[in-house]
Amino acid sequence: MIELMKVTKSFQDTPVLTDISLTIQDNEVFGIVGPSGVGKSTLLNCLIGLEKYQSGSITIDGIHLEDLTEFEIRKFRKNMGMIFQNFSLIGRKDVFHNISLPMECWNYSKTDIKDRVEHLAELTGIQDKLYCRPAELSGGQKQRVAIARALSMNPRYLLCDECTSALDPRSTASILELLKSLQEQFKITIIVVTHEMSVVQNICQRMAILENGSVSLLGSVREIFRNKPGQLKALLGEDEGKVSITLDIGELAKCREYLDAQGMKYKITGGY
Ligand SMILES: Nc1ncnc2c1ncn2[C@@H]1O[C@H](COP(=O)(O)OP(=O)(O)O)[C@@H](O)[C@H]1O
Ligand SMILES: [Mg+2]
Repeated sequence: MIELMKVTKSFQDTPVLTDISLTIQDNEVFGIVGPSGVGKSTLLNCLIGLEKYQSGSITIDGIHLEDLTEFEIRKFRKNMGMIFQNFSLIGRKDVFHNISLPMECWNYSKTDIKDRVEHLAELTGIQDKLYCRPAELSGGQKQRVAIARALSMNPRYLLCDECTSALDPRSTASILELLKSLQEQFKITIIVVTHEMSVVQNICQRMAILENGSVSLLGSVREIFRNKPGQLKALLGEDEGKVSITLDIGELAKCREYLDAQGMKYKITGGY
C-alpha cells in the first residue's frame, strides 16, 4: 500500500506539488490524471525516490521513504517497475539485453538472466523479437520490451507514465489488455499516469485528479464518470458556461473588442 500525506515539492522557488494526500491500495489499478505540467511525472519520481520532496511523507508498504539512505532507496526501487511514453530503450542493445539490464546491474547469474528474460518475453508476447534492436520494432512492441524490463526485478508496483500516449489506438488497446492481464496474474499494483481519459476508464478502478498542485478529486472511476463532477468536466474540456459561436470574418474585430471589454476568455479557430 502507498500512502502520501501532505507531500510538497518545489523546484527552486517554484512550487509544483503543494499538498498531495492519497492512498493507493494493493492490487488496484490507480489512475493519476491532470493537465500537462501539473506535476504527475514529478509525483511518480517522488514515489520511486528519484526526486526529493520538501515536506510530508510517503509510506510504501510501511516504509517511510524519507527515512531511507541513498543505497536503501536503490534497493527499494527494485519494488517499483516503471514504463514511459518514449519507452526509454537502449538503441544499441538488442531486446534481450534491454530486458536483462536491471538484472545485470544486480549481478544475477547468466543462467538466471536467460531463464527470466525468456519467461518475460513470452509473458509480454515478444519472444520472437529477442535479438532485434529497438529500431526494428513497432511502438507497441517497444512498450512490451519496456514492460518486460520493468517486471524483471519482480516488482510489487508498476508505474506507467503516459505509457500509451505515443501509441496508435490499436496498440494502446493491446498494451492496456497486457497490463490488465499482468495485474490479474501477478497481483501487482499498477499506477497509471495519463492525460487520456479513455485509458483511465479502460483500466483503472480508482483515480485522482491533480489540479494546482493538489488532489482535487479522488474516487471510483465508475462513479466519477457517471456523475461527471466539475473537476472531470474541466479536464474533458466541457467547462460549463462555454459557448461556441460562428462569425463572419468582418464581425471578428468588433466581437473581440466586445469580449475584451467584458474580460471574457475566448479562442478563435478558422474555418470556411
Ligand atoms: N527537474 C526539474 N527542474 C525544474 N522544474 C521542473 C523539473 N521537472 C519538472 N519541472 C516543472 O514541474 C512542473 C511539473 O512537471 P511534470 O511533473 O513533468 O508535469 P506533468 O507530468 O504533469 O506534465 C512543470 O512546470 C515542469 O516545468
Ligand atoms: Mg509527465
